[in-house]
Amino acid sequence: MIPRDTIEKIIDASHVEEVVGEFVTLKKRGTNLLGLCPFHGEKTPSFTVSPTKGIYKCFGCGKAGNSVNFVMDHLQLSYPEALKWLAKKYGIEVKEREITPEEKQQQTEKESMLIVMQYAQRYFTDNMNQTDEGLSVGRGYFISRGLRDDIVERFKLGYSLNERTAFSEAAVKAAYLPEYLVKTGMSILSNRYQEGQPITQSDVFDRYNGRVMFPIHDDGGRVVAFGGRTLSNDKKVAKYINSPETSIYNKSKILYGLWQGKKAIQEHDKAYLVEGYMDVIAMHQNGIENVVASSGTSLTVDQIKAIHRFTKNVVVLYDGDSAGQKASNRAIPLLLEEGMNVKLLTFPDNDDPDSFSAKVGNEAFKKYIDENTIDFIYYKASRIKAHSNDPIERANVIKDIVDNISLIPDNITRSVYIRECAQLMEMQEQTLQFEVNKIRRKKGEKFAPPETNEPIEPAASEQLVEPLPEEPIFKFEGEERQLLRLMIRYGFHLIPTLAEDDEKNEHSLDITLTEFILFELWRDHIAFENPLHQAVLDYYTHAYQNNQNPSVDSLRNAPDPLVSHFVIDQVIDKHDISGGWNKFGVQITDERLELKKAVQHLLFSYKEKLVRKFIDEHQTKLQLAQSEEEVNQLLDEMKGLIEMKKRVNKLLGRIVVR
Ligand code: CTP
Ligand code: MN
Repeated sequence: MIPRDTIEKIIDASHVEEVVGEFVTLKKRGTNLLGLCPFHGEKTPSFTVSPTKGIYKCFGCGKAGNSVNFVMDHLQLSYPEALKWLAKKYGIEVKEREITPEEKQQQTEKESMLIVMQYAQRYFTDNMNQTDEGLSVGRGYFISRGLRDDIVERFKLGYSLNERTAFSEAAVKAAYLPEYLVKTGMSILSNRYQEGQPITQSDVFDRYNGRVMFPIHDDGGRVVAFGGRTLSNDKKVAKYINSPETSIYNKSKILYGLWQGKKAIQEHDKAYLVEGYMDVIAMHQNGIENVVASSGTSLTVDQIKAIHRFTKNVVVLYDGDSAGQKASNRAIPLLLEEGMNVKLLTFPDNDDPDSFSAKVGNEAFKKYIDENTIDFIYYKASRIKAHSNDPIERANVIKDIVDNISLIPDNITRSVYIRECAQLMEMQEQTLQFEVNKIRRKKGEKFAPPETNEPIEPAASEQLVEPLPEEPIFKFEGEERQLLRLMIRYGFHLIPTLAEDDEKNEHSLDITLTEFILFELWRDHIAFENPLHQAVLDYYTHAYQNNQNPSVDSLRNAPDPLVSHFVIDQVIDKHDISGGWNKFGVQITDERLELKKAVQHLLFSYKEKLVRKFIDEHQTKLQLAQSEEEVNQLLDEMKGLIEMKKRVNKLLGRIVVR
């Protein structure tokens, strides 16, 4: 039991904003502070701390309490353990005496496991500093990699002796139960162990032998796992052995370096994301402490949420090699989707932060980072330069960027990126916007509705997340695309038509398919709804006015990459490249005639649907019309529409489609 007056001292010292502030970056909102709730994943802050009342409350998930409750809840500690954690933070001495067997009984399994891990960390560090093997092999290794003493101490590095049961024996001798050695993953059950029997020391052996040890801390500073690196160059030996997933080590939630780096992350409002243990450590040694690694897994959403509680700004520093590129291509969309601002930095020649800093030294390292950090969009766009002559590659890069931008949850940020991208790619902002909206609409269900929170003092400027704007759904996408597809693929083909001259005499006249479609669209003043489709149509109109019929090649190289991408899409389609007109419900006999039938069928059924839509709209307008003038005007237009409908239906009836 902790004496009453000590408890009071601890509670007095523990300011709620300081305690919570260790795990969440809090921003002032009037008399309160606001941050991202650490208990439920949110992207807009609804977690409120009131220093004057000494409490926190989350308006998203309802969690509330004081400093001690927060520590208990967040670090999953019992009341006395939470008090001890706070006492340590505030430098308050708690008279620790031997715990009684009853108290030991009351410890939760998690607490017992954490105690084993704390013991293991001290044991490995002592091994390294106090045994001959540890000094020459373990310490020697870190020295050979250039690590300073203060850094070795900060990361609590250690060494496991090259013996099969050294750790397990020492731990049991120090009164730790073999059961917990196994539960933490520090020891492994031998296959001699008989199920159902109590575990004894002779049933277990060590997970780590002859490895340098990197303890992995949770954000409360408690050791929850280890990574052990081999010192051998043998490719058959696993380079790292990591703790298994346990009830205290949730791999997908823990970030290596967060405990040591979170203060710096808050101060700089930025986190560097690296790949390995040694990279985190090397950055610290170079004076850059706002750094974390995802350690042993590829970056997860929960790890991103853990960073997000401290900052929105992430710089991804992965290896320049192809594995590193792949890793960053995987990480970027996840980061964007969580609402992070993403920048990138790559190192030359397959170097990682550790090897690069060792090569060039501290000053040049920092300079390199400052000068080479670029926004993700420039990183992605930079690939286009290398492929500027290859339209397909170009289109792929654009598509990749558009996919990424569409993940950004915040409307304003997304618009900024769309503008940036449009300038960078010399494209129409509007077409880009359209493509982004299309993807977002398609994935509609993936985007959660915006969180509706009521912070104690809501700040209007903070509520940037609005619902998705109502976007028109293009009813005639399919028809528009098919018409363009025919123009792209068969635009040069000649179609027999009958033309009337001034004396109303009919002549047969062959015109190109493109001309045929353009004339038919113009005569009824039809514009495409989908702006991208209209952009392609404009391209054709422009070419026609200049007496050209654009070739697929010239279209593929259209300056607007979305146009070229669209064209490529229509040309490469393994499903119907050989399918001919069947697709449009027409059998091939005489190709020229059938082509005409296919186009007519498509055009007239499109027009028929369009005119029906116009008529519907007019009827609604008529019902709402206010003045006689308006009614007359609408009726007039309606007459024209009904005539068009008749004409189109007649034409449709004439086409014989077998
Ligand atoms: N990793 C792992 N298991 C492996 C290999 C790698 O868990 N078998 C994880 C470790 O967290 C490691 C990170 O992936 O830190 C990056 O791996 P790598 O680049 O191979 O190692 P480095 O950290 O660069 O280690 P070193 O510089 O000592 O070679
Ligand atoms: Mn390395």
